Amino acid sequence: MMQSSSLVVVPETYKVEPYDWMTPVYPALLAVEQRLQTAPPEQHEWLGAATAHLLASGGKRIRPAVSLLAAGIFEVDFERAVHLAAGVEMLHTATLVHDDLIDGANMRRGAPTLNAVSGADAAILVGDYLFARAANLVAQTDHVGVMDEFAKTLMVILNGEVVQRFNRWQVDRQAYQQRIYAKTAALFVLAAQAPALLGNASESARQSMVDYGQAIGLAFQIVDDVLDYVGDPAKIGKPAGGDLRQGLITLPLIRYIEMHPNDPEVGILLAKRDGNHPLVAALIEKVRHSSAIQAALDEARGWVEQAQHALECLPLSIYTQALSELTVTIVERAM
Ligand code: IPE
Ligand code: IPE
Ligand code: MG
Ligand code: MG
Repeated sequence: MMQSSSLVVVPETYKVEPYDWMTPVYPALLAVEQRLQTAPPEQHEWLGAATAHLLASGGKRIRPAVSLLAAGIFEVDFERAVHLAAGVEMLHTATLVHDDLIDGANMRRGAPTLNAVSGADAAILVGDYLFARAANLVAQTDHVGVMDEFAKTLMVILNGEVVQRFNRWQVDRQAYQQRIYAKTAALFVLAAQAPALLGNASESARQSMVDYGQAIGLAFQIVDDVLDYVGDPAKIGKPAGGDLRQGLITLPLIRYIEMHPNDPEVGILLAKRDGNHPLVAALIEKVRHSSAIQAALDEARGWVEQAQHALECLPLSIYTQALSELTVTIVERAM
């Protein structure tokens, strides 16, 4: 009979089967979770509880995964890579807290939002606190260039939010692309290129990571915008249909309008600029069942291809392979 001492006990958390893109960075992702959950000792318990609530409710952790895989390519040491990845995810979490307050959203990651539970003052304070924690985590990479990119990224995101605020009901493809670059792709660019800076990569390798981050970021936001039309709130963990109600004209509707330039309901809504108008629900239904959804997803697929091209400029490794597989899952999410 086999001695129990001869059995290797694999911790539950390490059983990643079948092999998938996350495998090469799984231990590092666990370290990121630990870093995110490590609270400064002087932190008020209420901040700790709010942060724990946000982190425990889930989230796909796609940005730290990108950062860790990029760190694998450029042979960044484990500690710095984990600090960077945790800082990127913390920045993302902070923007979501403020985004939900601004949008008046009451559900995120399948749980009630901070603004819904504790009010606007709580969301402002916790959001600001998490921005500071994000900066503190990234500063531990001890790289001024990376800190500079972090600060610039935050400026781009917030400038984009302001542009969005002043351009509601705008039907314009180019403006849409600039908006989604700012609100989403810029952070993916940071996640992808900061490891190249930390690893003293060549300029062309850094540029490939910028191109990769931009392409997956644009694809990711287009898919998010498609899911706002066709997603199941139970699966996406947040309400659907909110974009148009806020006067946010995203790619599915832009494509619908291009296909149906004379739709009278569109004309009325664009003239009235009222997100509570009864025609909003009807228009969402029409877009949902139109070929505009597939057309928008085709554009996302185009960006996925661009991301794959960017990766082809780098030496093939388990990390580029994993980034390539991760990229494919971005559009699959909406299918
Ligand atoms: C939500 O991002 C905000 C967008 C940029 C679309 P995610 O869909 O990555 O959110 P979590 O972190 O998984 O909750
Ligand atoms: C959020 O984009 C992007 C930022 C937080 C800057 P969305 O507004 O589309 O994200 P969701 O749909 O609320 O997750
Ligand atoms: Mg939002
Ligand atoms: Mg959205």
